Amino acid sequence: MIIAIDGPAASGKGTVARALAARFGLPHLDTGLLYRAVGFAALTRGLDLKDAAALAALAGELDLAAFDPEALKSGPVGEAASRVAALPQVRAALLKLQRDFAARPGGAVLDGRDIGTVIAPQAEVKIFVTASPEARAARRYRELSQRGEAVSETTVLEDIRRRDARDSGRASAPLVKAPDAVELDNTALSAAESVARALEIVAARTAPPAPGME
Ligand code: CDP
Repeated sequence: MIIAIDGPAASGKGTVARALAARFGLPHLDTGLLYRAVGFAALTRGLDLKDAAALAALAGELDLAAFDPEALKSGPVGEAASRVAALPQVRAALLKLQRDFAARPGGAVLDGRDIGTVIAPQAEVKIFVTASPEARAARRYRELSQRGEAVSETTVLEDIRRRDARDSGRASAPLVKAPDAVELDNTALSAAESVARALEIVAARTAPPAPGME
């Protein structure tokens, strides 16, 4: 079983993806970390974030294990990730790794922006996790503050709106709900409620047809 989870920044995709992976004993890939690692490496090396050839070369030799996941979660790295992710050459360099992960024999859970549309259009279960920009900004503000980043909720909301616009407006694999994805709007849901709803969606998608419906 392949489970594809997509959605905008700070929508809680990761929480849902991790819970489903644990519940079904499937490996999980947070594909945002790949773009964050490219963004982080580019910032560290002082690369121009528009230099598609250099960034694609970086993406092509990426070893995610070499990065500290915590260092990848900062606000500036998220912004750099969104910028490099708009470059088709960078996306192409990361494609095989993601498709191979999705094709693991026992199945997999992947979360990102284009899993249900580009990486694994064949996924049995597709969930589009979303929430209002304000709810997402409040969550991201809490996360970043807990990490010790000096940010204001207003700035975080602006960052989220800018990143939404860039991720949805880019020509290459834009953030969009796959036609066969089920939307999970968790604006008013707790993390536990969001996971419970996701489990219902999986159950509905994988249930055998009711008698007389074959
Ligand atoms: O955690 P958050 O939702 O803020 O971001 P993320 O999932 O870690 O992704 C960081 C950035 O990588 C996003 O803003 C996207 O531009 C990009 N990304 C993408 O283009 N495609 C993916 N499959 C995953 C992430």
